[in-house]
Amino acid sequence: MNQEELLQKDKELISEGLKLRFHPITVKEAKGCYITDTNDQRYLDLTAGWAVANVGYGRESIAKVIHDQYVKLSFTTQLSAPSETMIQLADKLVEIVPGNFEKKVWFGHSGSDANDLISKFLPVSTGRNKMISFIGSYHGQTMGASSLSGHSAQAKFEGKGNVVKIPYPNVYRPFSGISDNLTEQTMHFLEEVFATICPAEDTAGVIIEAIQSDGGIVLPPEQFLKELREICDRHGIYLIVDEVKVGMGRTGKWFSFEHTGIIPDAVVLGKSLGAGLPISAVVGRKEILDTVAAGHMFTTSGNPISTSAAIENIRIIKEENLIENADKQGNLFLTGLHKLKEKYECIGDVRGKGLSIGVEIVTDRDSKKPDAIKTAALCYHCYEIGLLIYNVGIYGNVLEITPPLSITTDEVNEALSFLDQAFQDIENGNFQLEKLKEYAGWG
Ligand SMILES: Cc1ncc(COP(=O)(O)O)c(C=O)c1O
Repeated sequence: MNQEELLQKDKELISEGLKLRFHPITVKEAKGCYITDTNDQRYLDLTAGWAVANVGYGRESIAKVIHDQYVKLSFTTQLSAPSETMIQLADKLVEIVPGNFEKKVWFGHSGSDANDLISKFLPVSTGRNKMISFIGSYHGQTMGASSLSGHSAQAKFEGKGNVVKIPYPNVYRPFSGISDNLTEQTMHFLEEVFATICPAEDTAGVIIEAIQSDGGIVLPPEQFLKELREICDRHGIYLIVDEVKVGMGRTGKWFSFEHTGIIPDAVVLGKSLGAGLPISAVVGRKEILDTVAAGHMFTTSGNPISTSAAIENIRIIKEENLIENADKQGNLFLTGLHKLKEKYECIGDVRGKGLSIGVEIVTDRDSKKPDAIKTAALCYHCYEIGLLIYNVGIYGNVLEITPPLSITTDEVNEALSFLDQAFQDIENGNFQLEKLKEYAGWG
């Protein structure tokens, strides 16, 4: 199928509920950090398919593992007849997820079903019915996960009524308008919530992204997670960290919360865990994971193919030092992006850790008014010149840079020069906004 045919069929057959489009790409193949479209155009990819392809595309060793596993044991349902790859993967996850206590692992298919476990199990496990999450957070689209989410993308849906959402401490856009003492302000807000609508003694858990990703790559102040851990401990509340998007090495450590020194009671994983194969996991305290026997089961959970791909994925991350590379290339990116910020007034903020980086686009730096249209134009125009990038943020105005962790210095420099050209072209008015009509991204 050529691009036109594919897009036409896609329009006719595929649910709009499954689409988040920024430009009309139709993909043919991919290798390393590059994607080739159905017109044989090559693109440098800064998306990793929403942070999934952490080890890059088209890994021969993963293909071999998948092939060999399929021939040996194509399937067994782990619910009733377990096999060894699931156990081996669980062993590895228990080892890399910090926490000096007895841990267990649950497996699913997506970040959403994993966060659904948190939504279902925590209230039952603690006998407390309330949960706390953060405005701007994205935990997934199934009912439990979307109830925990505070992202504009889920605003149209009714969720479970037991979740109270509090502001995420965003230094660039503080909820009070004042960025000083933001940790203290947020803690004060939380104490007010505990004292009023969500008594601490009725609260089972707090779920947080240590870097809020779809919310706009927002990094909380340094002390914030420590203080949150302390307040949770004081009230006997579980602290859960959602690492679905930034975990598995992306930020220069296995997990982004490791930059803060806290230990969560459970960690949620997904996306890059299976290097493209569907798999998610919750790794945490035994008593949480054992809450209800046969209480959160999916027939193909922990299947031999996804778990063997995940084991090989972890091996590659370790052996190729991809975590160290994420840190190194992330710093290079940040330096280059700060230089672009000096050049282009519409860049309001540049921030990130490792290869989880956000570039916030505003109409001007004084008003900081989010410029979602310019952001969408930049995404589309990057595609036109050979670079793939998406946008995130509750205002849809943050360019998200989450390339494969295997990206090289040359590729980072190539990406920076593409971005420079895209900003230049958009500033010079070399883009017709008409093109964005069907490509509104998040809405
Ligand atoms: C932090 C976080 N949690 C959960 C999810 C949901 O994952 P999935 O789309 O695999 O269900 C996402 C997806 O973007 C995410 O970024």
